[in-house]
Amino acid sequence: MPEQPTLLERVCRGERGERVPIWIMRQAGRYLPEYRELRRHVDFLTATKTPEVAARITLQPIERYPLDAAILFSDIMTPLEAMGVAIDFSPGPVVREPVRTPAAARALRDLDPEEGTGYVLDALRIVRSELASDRALIAFAGAPFTLFCYLVEGAGSKDFMEARRFLQAEPTAAAHLLDILGASMARYLVAQASAGADVLMLFDSWAGLLGPDAYRRFVLPVLRRTVAAVREEVDRPFIYFANGGATLLEAAAEVGADVLGIDWTLPLSRVVARLGPTAVLQGNLDPAALFAPRDDLAAAVDAVLDEGSGAAGHVFNLGHGIHRTTDPDQVAFLVDRVRERSESIAPSSAPAR
Ligand code: CP3
Repeated sequence: MPEQPTLLERVCRGERGERVPIWIMRQAGRYLPEYRELRRHVDFLTATKTPEVAARITLQPIERYPLDAAILFSDIMTPLEAMGVAIDFSPGPVVREPVRTPAAARALRDLDPEEGTGYVLDALRIVRSELASDRALIAFAGAPFTLFCYLVEGAGSKDFMEARRFLQAEPTAAAHLLDILGASMARYLVAQASAGADVLMLFDSWAGLLGPDAYRRFVLPVLRRTVAAVREEVDRPFIYFANGGATLLEAAAEVGADVLGIDWTLPLSRVVARLGPTAVLQGNLDPAALFAPRDDLAAAVDAVLDEGSGAAGHVFNLGHGIHRTTDPDQVAFLVDRVRERSESIAPSSAPAR
């Protein structure tokens, strides 16, 4: 018999939930002392490539907090190695030979997820078997443009000027590169769903570098194909997060995801005003709010819940990844606050679970 869908899955699909589900971007990571302790003995790459270790780290925040989802401990750059790209982490990704020519773009191999990223699929299987059935397991991939940014630039950057130059100067090679990335990430997400992931997510961390016209021209078509390719194979709620996407909102809504992740710069009520009341949203507490005194943090949490109540569904999250200097006790307070407040304001007609 199939399991009942989790609260997160139901809310992602626009069904009424008994409360607002919560998980936290980068919830498995360096702000947790148990993560730092484990990382003393194993480097980042080895941790992501050893299924038992990746599964352990994925479950660390779940053991500490009553979160509604686990997100696999991995990185958006992880699958690129199996496409022929050598990557180091220090701590952000560094591409040993950046892709700067059409020939280099053509040399990229299509991803075969079973063969190239079997350790990711094994980690998902372990987590799903250990995770309570009422918690969702989220798998993710980098969105084509964000992966393109790292591949061309070679490392993190404020403005990814090399990547944006390549996009304009070599549009044919750029389109080819984006296509390979999109098709490969679609296969990667399908494989992750088959390995037990309940919810799929695309991180477009650098989408906000593009204006709406460039986004529509270079990025939106490949994103639409990526999501459609996944949907042809598996039926899973899909979250698309475009960081810095305030000016891209209407275009991002055309990607075809069930849920749009919103960064903290745009109040959720403004998103609903622009996209209409059928939008399902994820977000968007400022990660810096976790450094505020308790009363101010509580007020900020309540404001996000209030802002999100006009959407067809709201998944509570931060507006971007949690900062590594965050106090874990503040996170405990945040998670409890969201659970308590949203339970008390949930419509009484919501089905009990
Ligand atoms: O959310 C989670 O808990 C799952 C794990 C996860 C990591 N990276 C682990 C990680 C996820 C979802 C990512 C995605 C990711 N990686 C993104 C998209 C999300 C975003 O923040 O916009 C991006 C842009 C990357 C690239 C990346 N990887 C950067 C910029 C860095 C260094 C900066 C940082 O936050 O440390 C990494 C390394 C990385 N990925 C770490 C972790 C826990 C730190 C490595 C360490 O522990 O030394």
